[in-house]
Amino acid sequence: MLGNSFGRFFKVTTCGESYGGAFRRNPDIPGELRGGLMTIIDGVPSGLKLTADMIQAELDKRRPGQSELDTPRKEKDKVYIYSGVMENDITTGAPIGMLIPNTDIDEQHVEKHRSYLDFIRPGQAGYTYYKKFGQNADLYGAGRASGRETAARVAAGAVAKAVLDGLGIDVISFVTEIHGIKSGDISYEIAKANYRKNELNCPDLENAVRMIDEIKKIKAEGDSCGGVVEIIARGVASGLGEPVFDKLSATIAHGIMSIGSVKGLEFGAGFEHTRMKGSESNDKPYLDKDTGRVRFKTNNAGGLLGGISNGEDIRIRVAVKPTPTISVTQSTVDVKNLENTDISFKTRNDPCICPRIYPVCEAMVRIAILDAIYMAKGYRELSFLDDKWDRL
Ligand SMILES: Cc1cc2nc3c(=O)[nH]c(=O)nc-3n(C[C@H](O)[C@H](O)[C@H](O)COP(=O)(O)O)c2cc1C
Repeated sequence: MLGNSFGRFFKVTTCGESYGGAFRRNPDIPGELRGGLMTIIDGVPSGLKLTADMIQAELDKRRPGQSELDTPRKEKDKVYIYSGVMENDITTGAPIGMLIPNTDIDEQHVEKHRSYLDFIRPGQAGYTYYKKFGQNADLYGAGRASGRETAARVAAGAVAKAVLDGLGIDVISFVTEIHGIKSGDISYEIAKANYRKNELNCPDLENAVRMIDEIKKIKAEGDSCGGVVEIIARGVASGLGEPVFDKLSATIAHGIMSIGSVKGLEFGAGFEHTRMKGSESNDKPYLDKDTGRVRFKTNNAGGLLGGISNGEDIRIRVAVKPTPTISVTQSTVDVKNLENTDISFKTRNDPCICPRIYPVCEAMVRIAILDAIYMAKGYRELSFLDDKWDRL
């Protein structure tokens, strides 16, 4: 398997699966360490304050089993910092290593997953994993394709957050649509004021009630639904992102599109641009009298021009599909007996992924932004640019 790292200078590598460890009965390994997730990060600066509590706070947003809207799986998602931090909680500059053991992997759940291994699970990655890895693929609980893998990313995002907080960069994500039920427009201020005020993390508190009822209704039918998650990054200075293949828009899209169940994303007005005229789509610049800097009257561009940050909020909308695992009967293929058949799942799963995916979106955007800062600063150190352009 290739491609388990993301980022060039702030570089995150993850490994681990959903039920990994359930099968390793080696008595020399203490039970909790038999399996789980690991994160290694290159490029963490020395001298940064970093505690397990700071990482745990982010992981707790994504932790399963917190409400009726997510899977009843009860993973503690407890993180252990394994390397790169001294006893005074200050980073040394060496790679940060983190462990998140799998603890909720008892035999009855492993057995349920085992009973589905011979069937192609509709909407899941199983078919394509069989094509790439054959019978050796670990598909218990979806293996590397499991939503559980994203805990390792959230841990990395928490480290990026520790750096970005010091630079005044804030990344916030929230739910704005469930199964066609939409929230009103959400400003940064509303998102901050109502952050995590309900189990869906939808800052439009009235419409959130309708969305939550919709998820519960669909869950009772044994079915699932999707929605839209939005992200705002505030405080990102202009000039981040490299002009051609490494545009900031491209690396953010890479990070977000690599999250399971994400089916699309748009920056700023996104697809709405296709219904506008140029005169409507263009954000008109003006000189801000207070700062002497260039600002824009609107933000249809979503904070990115030519793939480079323009100093306005970076705004992203993410399309999340319905959870593939459902108990409604679906047609499929039995790969052992090579015949068409029907399947219905009795495993634990999220009826809607939106209430658990927003911390993952925050993490991936933070990692992409911090990585772009490293790249921009490195390049800038070597270039000969008149100060005038800095002041603009
Ligand atoms: C936080 C999170 C939780 C998820 N929970 C589940 C789940 O409980 N059941 C499930 O079938 N898929 C779940 N998924 C989605 C699958 O990982 C994803 O749909 C699958 O790997 C197929 O990939 P694709 O949808 O990107 O094509 C979850 C994804 C995330 C990010």
